[in-house]
Amino acid sequence: MKQNKTGKFIVFEGIDGAGKTTHIHLLEAYLLQKGRRVVCTAEPTDQPFGKQLRRALSGEEQKTPCELAALFTLDRIAHNVQPKTGIAALLASGVDVICDRYFYSTLAYQGPDTDMDWVRGMNLNCPEIRHPDLCIFLDLSPEESMARIEERAGAHEIYETRERLERVRAQFYSVLQSFDPATIRIVNAARPMEEVHTEIREIADLIFQ
Ligand code: TYD
Repeated sequence: MKQNKTGKFIVFEGIDGAGKTTHIHLLEAYLLQKGRRVVCTAEPTDQPFGKQLRRALSGEEQKTPCELAALFTLDRIAHNVQPKTGIAALLASGVDVICDRYFYSTLAYQGPDTDMDWVRGMNLNCPEIRHPDLCIFLDLSPEESMARIEERAGAHEIYETRERLERVRAQFYSVLQSFDPATIRIVNAARPMEEVHTEIREIADLIFQ
């Protein structure tokens, strides 16, 4: 496949346990096989603001909802503008970027606890925050999500309660509706992995046409 000049920017979103990690890597392998150059990345990042966010998410550090929203946004700006390895630099050099979570998460998780217009404006109107070409929302019921989370070993993060998942899922639906439908795809993630991946391939193929 011929590499376009500018890379494509694909974001995966979903409530916890939806299988983002698995599907990101399956899509990466597919795109590589098509001859594209691909980098997978995630938010919160492993840079200083991202590390601070991890400490806040684990409960180790206390942050107010507005502080959290601002920190996620700051982490996102740094993620975009970092020389060479930042999202903007990668896309400009023709590399496709697949990102695990992005501003849709900030709107869904932090929006309701703060002020949605403020969070939206800070993210969507920021000249240093790139808008994705495609957002794939892996959709899962809170019940299925909890079952998957419980199967995984390790500490639960502060957001992983059933009520919270229910609210966040509803919030994602409402947030995603406010974007250009051509850039948003909601995928039923409760199906077998191969079936979900096949649908993701088909969706991705459309943006590379
Ligand atoms: P992450 O480590 O990506 O785990 P998961 O595999 O569940 O996606 O998730 C980090 C947590 O950060 C997750 O519970 C959602 C939350 N989050 C926000 O609240 N706002 C944001 O803007 C982002 C990017 C993540």
